Amino acid sequence: MTTALHRTIAVLPGDGIGPEVTRAAVQLLRDCASAFGHQFEFREYPFGGHAIDRCGVPLPPETLAGCRASDAVLLGAIGGPRWESLPLGTRPEAGLLAIRKELGLYINLRPIRLRPALRDISPLRPERLADCDFEIVRELAGDIYFGEHKMSQDKASDVAEYSVAEIERVARYAFERAGRRKGHLTSVDKANVLASSTLWRDTVTALARAYPHVTVDHQYVDNASMQILLRPAQFDVILTGNMFGDILSDEAAALTGSIGLIPSLSRGRPGQPALYEPIHGSAPTLAGKDVACPLGAIFSATLMLRESFGLAVESQWIEDAVDRVLEQGYRTPDIAEPASRRVGGSEFTLKIRAELDVAPARREL
Ligand code: IPM
Ligand code: MG
Repeated sequence: MTTALHRTIAVLPGDGIGPEVTRAAVQLLRDCASAFGHQFEFREYPFGGHAIDRCGVPLPPETLAGCRASDAVLLGAIGGPRWESLPLGTRPEAGLLAIRKELGLYINLRPIRLRPALRDISPLRPERLADCDFEIVRELAGDIYFGEHKMSQDKASDVAEYSVAEIERVARYAFERAGRRKGHLTSVDKANVLASSTLWRDTVTALARAYPHVTVDHQYVDNASMQILLRPAQFDVILTGNMFGDILSDEAAALTGSIGLIPSLSRGRPGQPALYEPIHGSAPTLAGKDVACPLGAIFSATLMLRESFGLAVESQWIEDAVDRVLEQGYRTPDIAEPASRRVGGSEFTLKIRAELDVAPARREL
């Protein structure tokens, strides 16, 4: 029998499709809690453009306090055309950067895993896709994102900066994950041009001595972006900086068929609340039509169960139900093919919930 847990989850639905996809994820977490006897308490807070409209800022103090007081944070998506004309530092995106900074989230994990039933929607040929299962560890609190940004009439600059300590703390996490997987770490940088990347490479190389069971190689980011398409199976864990990680993770997500499928974990020091969010955006053109795929948010919830709460059985129970629904051919319109059984996002979630009933929770595990 697993021990019953009591956990508080801050929910930040945000903008666009954020509210509908987080609703789906929360429903499955509720089902999980009642099936296994856990207590999950959900507290919803305004965030992003929605918070700008309601409170004047994208990250209101009550939202930040609520996140700090929670065991984990579930975030939907932020942004949209409505706020695009605002100055950079006041837009919904500034709220996302602020919450990462305030919660000290310097590690961002993006698992790139194909769902077997969705192989057909990948743009890559099946033989190239074989064994595509890797993780991107993106540094999340430094780099060009957080260096000084300057802008005048005819000139602008952004500073890319890293310290040894910033590189080491995220690299340790990536080495440890690689050690628990296939033992292969690929560090991605642009050390043939950038000073910050040269420090990155030297620091990772020095740290590698502490992890003799992990094989390390280094790729320049331009080559890595090509290798991800040519031979994705060569990767186990990719470690990279904030900017390159942002770009490479969208590219890698496309291999799985849709960016709508990929979850992420952002965390800092152990013991602090981690934040879970799909890597997709707010998709304003899909919002409110019940057509968006909620899987990025649902897998963010299963990642939370596994990584923050240590509930691997519960996490697998939900993911197995998702895979069965996909095998039955159900797809939301955004990932549907002509032969698919098209259902809206809310019906898709109902199908998953029905599958949870088919395979009741095995509490004795
Ligand atoms: C992501 C997003 C964000 C980022 C944006 C919305 C600020 O693209 O989480 O990948 O660039 O980090
Ligand atoms: Mg991105």
